Amino acid sequence: MVLNFKDLPKVANELFNALHEDEVEIINELYSACEKGDLQEVDRLMEVLLYDVEEHFSTEEELMREAEFFAYPMHKAEHDSMRRDIKSLYESWKGSRDVKQIMDFIKEKLIPWLMLHIARWDSVTAMHIGD
Ligand SMILES: [Fe+2]
Ligand SMILES: [Fe+2]
Repeated sequence: MVLNFKDLPKVANELFNALHEDEVEIINELYSACEKGDLQEVDRLMEVLLYDVEEHFSTEEELMREAEFFAYPMHKAEHDSMRRDIKSLYESWKGSRDVKQIMDFIKEKLIPWLMLHIARWDSVTAMHIGD
């Protein structure tokens, strides 16, 4: 396990927390498929990750719009930057088939980003939206 859900900051909205828990599960499955060198499973899980991240971000964005959250453009800009990074990782994976690239991305980029993003953006947003 590369990331324990318990180590992520919790926010004041249960749907947000549930989205984060799903994300952690997929990240762990993907990381473990990389460790095993199971390329077919990595293919499948990269697609699951892309789909899940989109679901996660767009759900938050929809709730922000409904609640007319003042910092929507800033929060969405952070999502957009990670959307781009994950898409470019996926493109590069399709060419290189290098699992180490994915493992490095998860450890050095995605997990630190998730920790900081939840602490800095999701927590304020969840407080504004409520439960
Ligand atoms: Fe989030
Ligand atoms: Fe977010």
